[in-house]
Amino acid sequence: MATAVNAAVSLPSSKSSSLPIRNHIIVSPERINFNKCFLYSRNVCVGRKVVTIKAQVTTEAPAKVEKVSKKNDEGVVVNKFRPKNPYIGKCLLNTKITGDDAPGETWHMVFTTEGEVPYREGQSIGVIPDGIDKNGKPHKLRLYSIASSALGDFGDTKTVSLCVKRLVYTNDQGEIVKGVCSNFLCDLKPGADVKITGPVGKEMLMPKDPNATVIMLATGTGIAPFRSFLWKMFFEKYEDYKFKGLGWLFLGVPTTSSLLYKDEFEKMKEKAPENFRVDYAVSREQTNEKGEKMYIQTRMAQYAEELWELLKKDNTYVYMCGLKGMEKGIDDIMVSLAARDGIDWTEYKRQLKKSEQWNVEVY
Ligand SMILES: Cc1cc2nc3c(=O)[nH]c(=O)nc-3n(C[C@H](O)[C@H](O)[C@H](O)COP(=O)(O)OP(=O)(O)OC[C@H]3O[C@@H](n4cnc5c(N)ncnc54)[C@H](O)[C@@H]3O)c2cc1C
Ligand SMILES: NC(=O)c1ccc[n+]([C@@H]2O[C@H](COP(=O)([O-])OP(=O)(O)OC[C@H]3O[C@@H](n4cnc5c(N)ncnc54)[C@H](OP(=O)(O)O)[C@@H]3O)[C@@H](O)[C@H]2O)c1
Repeated sequence: MATAVNAAVSLPSSKSSSLPIRNHIIVSPERINFNKCFLYSRNVCVGRKVVTIKAQVTTEAPAKVEKVSKKNDEGVVVNKFRPKNPYIGKCLLNTKITGDDAPGETWHMVFTTEGEVPYREGQSIGVIPDGIDKNGKPHKLRLYSIASSALGDFGDTKTVSLCVKRLVYTNDQGEIVKGVCSNFLCDLKPGADVKITGPVGKEMLMPKDPNATVIMLATGTGIAPFRSFLWKMFFEKYEDYKFKGLGWLFLGVPTTSSLLYKDEFEKMKEKAPENFRVDYAVSREQTNEKGEKMYIQTRMAQYAEELWELLKKDNTYVYMCGLKGMEKGIDDIMVSLAARDGIDWTEYKRQLKKSEQWNVEVY
């Protein structure tokens, strides 16, 4: 059971709004600002061996933890609320977390659940936007990865948070089209009702092993489930869980001003430098030494040998979330790495998937 939370959300920035929140369970709060982020950079020594990295996985053999399939994990609730009978939550706060010059807006929002939507890190919820579609029928639900740990941003298991990108595009006729649900959510004001379904999903449930190496690969709002993992790993205290392995996050975004939750990740590194690493790929500002656009897989390629070594351990778990296109890019670098050891990546990945060490939710 969780006993305390030692991180808190600091409320309004200029583009945010919130309702007063009662009953926080917060111990030694560390303020987390949903403010504009700046690019974190550091010189990294890319060597042939694992030992070159600052925040390194322990070399001591940790106690083995028996693997329980996430599909059989007891107590994981799915589909408690369905579209015909959704849970009606209230928006507590809604904050833009990308800079004004970012290409597109991403918002962090918190809804009340009063503990009625019992979710786990890695699950998603459905949202049914208000209004009707062009056929006069209620809108269909859209899925969103949960961005808060099971305790919620206020540590009382009574809220759920999302990280939502506002969809706006120009169609073939040259008209500007706004995505229905993402715009509904990004425009939600504190106090407004929101229809919630779920929770759903078992693919992205986090490993139970506190000594695991957890490699998290995110593009854009694909960061959501990893914020949830990382809060559990580094900001919360549990009687039966203390993370002692390595969490390694790769996050790909277009610009420095689109970096999501960077302040939180920097705090985590301060708290647990031996257990947490984060590497950013800022596609429209950075390139590799060949001048190629810095996508998440381009950044990963700089640590190729090390990642491959980690992938050979049976307590390394990879999670991928975000744009569909990232999956192929990441496969491409793995194919050549595996081939160096005479291993067929497709087969190896199949085995990793079977043992739930390769987990993908892209869209
Ligand atoms: C498991 C899962 C988890 C998800 N988690 C998140 C999350 O955490 N955060 C998040 O922001 N999103 C997430 N999504 C995506 C989310 O469900 C919605 O699809 C997204 O918000 C868009 O919904 P909308 O109602 O705004 O757009 P809609 O009104 O449904 O419009 C979307 C449609 O617009 C069209 N379209 C979109 N872009 C273009 C374009 N450039 N050119 C032409 N046509 C286009 C396509 O036909 C597309 O189907 C997730 C999706 C899944 C499946
Ligand atoms: N559980 C889920 O399935 C889940 C959860 C959350 C989000 N999502 C989905 O994830 C997507 C995230 O989009 P976003 O708008 O939030 O992201 P975004 O801010 O646009 O950032 C995406 C980043 O990925 C880069 N990119 C583009 N093509 C790529 C490729 N082939 N390989 C690797 N990187 C690539 C982009 O670079 P450039 O733009 O510079 O090319 C950009 O840097 C959305 O489609 C969302 O629906 C899915």
